[in-house]
Amino acid sequence: MNDARVGVFDSGIGGLTVAAAIMRALPDERVVYVGDTARVPYGPKSPATVVRYSRQIAAWLLEQHVKAIVIACNTATAHALETLQREVPVPVIGVVQPGARSAVRATRTGRIGVIGTTGTINSGAYHRAIAALSPAATVIGAACPLFVPLVEEGWLDHPATRLIAESYLAPMRDAGIDTLVLGCTHYPLLASLIADVLGPGVTLVDSAAETAIALQDVLRSQSLQCSGASVGLGHRFIATDAPESFLRVGQRFIGPALQHVETTVFA
Ligand code: DGL
Repeated sequence: MNDARVGVFDSGIGGLTVAAAIMRALPDERVVYVGDTARVPYGPKSPATVVRYSRQIAAWLLEQHVKAIVIACNTATAHALETLQREVPVPVIGVVQPGARSAVRATRTGRIGVIGTTGTINSGAYHRAIAALSPAATVIGAACPLFVPLVEEGWLDHPATRLIAESYLAPMRDAGIDTLVLGCTHYPLLASLIADVLGPGVTLVDSAAETAIALQDVLRSQSLQCSGASVGLGHRFIATDAPESFLRVGQRFIGPALQHVETTVFA
């Protein structure tokens, strides 16, 4: 048993979709969430920069005595998971492996689409993770960089968003995929629009719920689960830029669980 919090981090607010899934699946656990709002987006940045940012956040989380770290950001998982798993003395879980697992389970034809930031798609992380689980699968990747600002703007069913989605997703439709991985923290908020554009034959997969299960497995196997005595401890939410916008946009992702935002700065 271990009543310490679980550290969860993302480039910004989008990873709250993963934090929410953890809170739903593991209601006894308490989370300390860092959203690196001062330096978002990670999607277009180089792997070296994303690794540097991820190391800084992991070091800060360790100072808060977390018992495990979940990288809720797909781009940070793609670039920094292996580095952190090597360097950090607590278990580190990313979102790519769980997303790949869900996709392989969902597909019937073996034709899987993956959408994500430019960094995630260029890294090939999803392609590798899916190929390791199902070598016969065909993976079609597409970067959708405009989706993140559209979601942050709250344009979840705006005609402009629909037009952009149709353009991004046309190659997926042409390739005849039957499963699409929403490989970015923000995309679950566009799920109904994307489902509409792709039609009923395509299953959408989001890694949040599967990541919570992966966390549960790790906590269980290492006897790190909460005893249930930490209920009074509460979740913590930390932004690296103005807390007001984190609070406002974050509630769109996680609802009323988010009431108070602390701030910190990484040099
Ligand atoms: N959190 C990022 C991801 O899941 C999306 C936002 C960004 O580009 O930083 O890849």
